[in-house]
Amino acid sequence: MAKVVAARPTLKADMTTTLPGRLLDIPIVLDGSISNQAARVHAALRMAIIDGYLRPGLKLPSSRGLAEQLGVPRNAVVAAYEQLLGDELAEARQGSGTYVTAHLPAASMARTPIQLDIDSFPNRAFALGRTHVDSGLLRQFATSVRRHIVAAGPDHLGYGDPRGSLPLRTEIARHLVASRGIRCDPNCIMITGGTQQGLRLCAEALLAPGDSVWLEEPGYYAAHGTLRAAGMGLIPVPVDGEGIRVDEGRRLAPMARAAYVTPSHQFPTGVTMSMARRVALLDWANASRAWIIEDDYDSEFRYAGPPLTALAGLGGERVIYSGTFSKTLFPSLRLAYLVLPQSVAEHVIKARSGVDRFPPAFLSDAVAELMSNGALAGHLRRTRLRYRQARDTVASVLETAGRGQLRIVVPPQGLHMVAYLPAGLPGDAGVRIREMAAVEARLFSETSLLPEGAEGFILGFSGYDGRDLAAAAKRLGEAVETYIGRSGVLAR
Ligand SMILES: Cc1ncc(COP(=O)(O)O)c(C=O)c1O
Repeated sequence: MAKVVAARPTLKADMTTTLPGRLLDIPIVLDGSISNQAARVHAALRMAIIDGYLRPGLKLPSSRGLAEQLGVPRNAVVAAYEQLLGDELAEARQGSGTYVTAHLPAASMARTPIQLDIDSFPNRAFALGRTHVDSGLLRQFATSVRRHIVAAGPDHLGYGDPRGSLPLRTEIARHLVASRGIRCDPNCIMITGGTQQGLRLCAEALLAPGDSVWLEEPGYYAAHGTLRAAGMGLIPVPVDGEGIRVDEGRRLAPMARAAYVTPSHQFPTGVTMSMARRVALLDWANASRAWIIEDDYDSEFRYAGPPLTALAGLGGERVIYSGTFSKTLFPSLRLAYLVLPQSVAEHVIKARSGVDRFPPAFLSDAVAELMSNGALAGHLRRTRLRYRQARDTVASVLETAGRGQLRIVVPPQGLHMVAYLPAGLPGDAGVRIREMAAVEARLFSETSLLPEGAEGFILGFSGYDGRDLAAAAKRLGEAVETYIGRSGVLAR
């Protein structure tokens, strides 16, 4: 018989009993979390067969013998064997006993831990996508989710509207009119599982593979990936102090079918798109019947003055507005939304119903409640203060430690800031300095589709302890100083 020592790694050790084999010379792992004894024996034998520990054609022990070995009643083993027969994982041979079925696919389960090269967003200082959520808010959120689940009627438990939670869409519509100058009907709002999903849905419903899309250069790497995966032709259009260069876009790809932009706070530069540029972009989109996808990802965090009016608020049937709860609450929530122009709302919503319908309704409803009872607004007031402080700490420590080598741009909004390296450094300077400083800052070169362009650091400052941030800013500033001093490339 096979001599195998590995138990299934997914079972928790404290819930299992591994009995050294006597009749079956393998570890039979009984999962203590399964209350029914027959089901427990059946589950253990089934996994052993599927994993190939019990090979095809092997005779299984008598029910009495196995019951003794496992310390369970005999009828539990009899019932387990019957279930294996029903699964066709075992076969009974007249007068001879029960055998593992002879016809099984080759063992399919890998028994070694699987290692995939997936970006898991490590959380060293300056990594983007961290937020601060206090435990009081989380408790409120949990209570609300629970209340919604407990009170759920049949309408809440079915497939529902592919636009997602109506209470959340209603709250979003209220928020947008009050703070972003966007008048919209909850019927034209679609809740998505994140900005990228919304972008993907827009591409699939409104564009065709091979269509050209203008992208800000440098720009949001995740949007690049999403649009590339959807088969779009990516047209990097440079950004200057007023936002995307519409004249360049017109020159490079006048017939592009869409432009993806971050007008309130360009990612990563932090530039706000000027009114002249907004008008030029809207004019282009209206004239060429192209779509503008406005990613308004961090406008709730405006540190000076009221939030800016969104591009979608300036009118125009060509603008699709995208908002997210990843900054206002936290990214693992996976809740974002699209505001669709009326003319295409139905089309996009129908396309969506063929994909995934909507994110979990109870979470959406609970977020709606945090919005309607003012808890989210309170959270935003508190975190805005906290993040502004974090921003100022990083800027001042970095300025001092880097001795003026970095050009630091303190943003009026958002959860990241940028610090440019001086021109003329070797191409890998950013990577080397980042390693020396042991921080997680993204580099400008990692947000560019084109090889040229200024290099610098994109520094997420939200969701970190103030002291850790200050220490990381000091390390980064000093690493810049040291690197430049060592390389001797620049006249000081
Ligand atoms: C430019 C930009 N858009 C959107 C998002 C949020 O994306 P999501 O809603 O998929 O979490 C981020 C997050 O960092 C971002 O930087």
